[in-house]
Amino acid sequence: MNFITQNDINNIPKLVQEALELKASPLKYNHLGKGKTLGLLFFNNSLRTRISTQKAAQNLGLENILLSAVDGWKLEFEDGAIMNIDKAEHIKEAAAVMSQYFDILGIRAFPSLKNKVEDYSEKLFSAFQQYASIPILNLESSTQHPLQSVADLVTIEEHKTVKKPKIVLSWAPHPKALPQAVANSFSIWTQSAGYDLTITHPKGMELSPDFVGNATVEYDQEKAFEGADFIYTKNWSSFKDYGKPLTNHEDWMITQEKMALTNNGYFMHCLPVRRNVVVEDAVLDSSQSLAIKQANNRTFAAQAVLKRILEK
Ligand code: CP
Repeated sequence: MNFITQNDINNIPKLVQEALELKASPLKYNHLGKGKTLGLLFFNNSLRTRISTQKAAQNLGLENILLSAVDGWKLEFEDGAIMNIDKAEHIKEAAAVMSQYFDILGIRAFPSLKNKVEDYSEKLFSAFQQYASIPILNLESSTQHPLQSVADLVTIEEHKTVKKPKIVLSWAPHPKALPQAVANSFSIWTQSAGYDLTITHPKGMELSPDFVGNATVEYDQEKAFEGADFIYTKNWSSFKDYGKPLTNHEDWMITQEKMALTNNGYFMHCLPVRRNVVVEDAVLDSSQSLAIKQANNRTFAAQAVLKRILEK
C-alpha cells in the first residue's frame, strides 16, 4: 500500500477516527513496527513533517533513518540517459538500494514551480513507485500534502459542532512563490471526506480544476467568511501563470475584523506562517486559532497511515 493521494484511502472518515483512537492511546500498537525501518528522504526542509512522522514511527515501534537531500542531491530520472554531466545516481539504483534497507520510504519533494506539466505529473513520486519495491509515503509532493490534510480533518472532527460545518479555504498574501500542494490537498481531502468547501482567492489565483472539484469559488473574501465555522488559510502561487506569486494583495491578510464575520469560526493554518503578512497576531494568538493543535495532530495522522501500511 502506497500513501500518495486521497485515492489510496478507501474510507477517509474511518482513517480520521483511527487517528483519534491513536491520539487517545499512542502506544497501543507499539509492537507493530518491531524489527522494521522507515526511511525518510527529504529534498526540502521540514520541522513538523519530519518530527511528527519520526514520532509516529517511534510510537509504533518502527525504527527510522533520515536521509537529507536538502543540499541538492541530483538524481537522474531519464531512461537511457548518458550520465556524463552533474547527476551521479539513477533513480533505478537509488530506489532499489533503499528498498533493501527500508520497509517503508517517506519522501518530501517540492515542485520546481517552473514546469507545470512535469510538476503535476508527479514525476519523482511516479519514478520511486516504479523502481522501489516497498510502500511509498508522501511527505509533501509537487501537488499534494496528504498527511497534513489528514491532520486537518482530525482537527476539524475534534472541533466541529455540526455534521457539515461551513469550511472556507482562503488565499492569503506571502512575499514568496509557494506551491499549491497544501491548498490542493485540503480541497480534495475535505471534499473526499464528505464536506462542502468554499474557496476564496483573488481572480487569477484559481487552483487546478482537478483539485477544486465541486467546491464553491467565491472571489469576495468577506462574503466567503460570512457564517464560516473554519477558515483554513494558505498562500499559493498561480496555477494558471504557473509559479508566479501574487503581490499587492496585502488586504487579503486574515484579520480580527474578517474573523468577526464568521460563526465564531476557527482559524487554521498548516504552519510555518508569516505573522502579520498572512495573518495578524491577534488572530493567530487567539483562542480560536487551531494552528498548534493541527501540528500536534500531524503525529496521529502519520501514525494512522503508517499503521495501515504495516498491517497490509
Ligand atoms: N506543515 C508542514 O508540512 O510543516 P513543515 O514544512 O515544517 O514540515
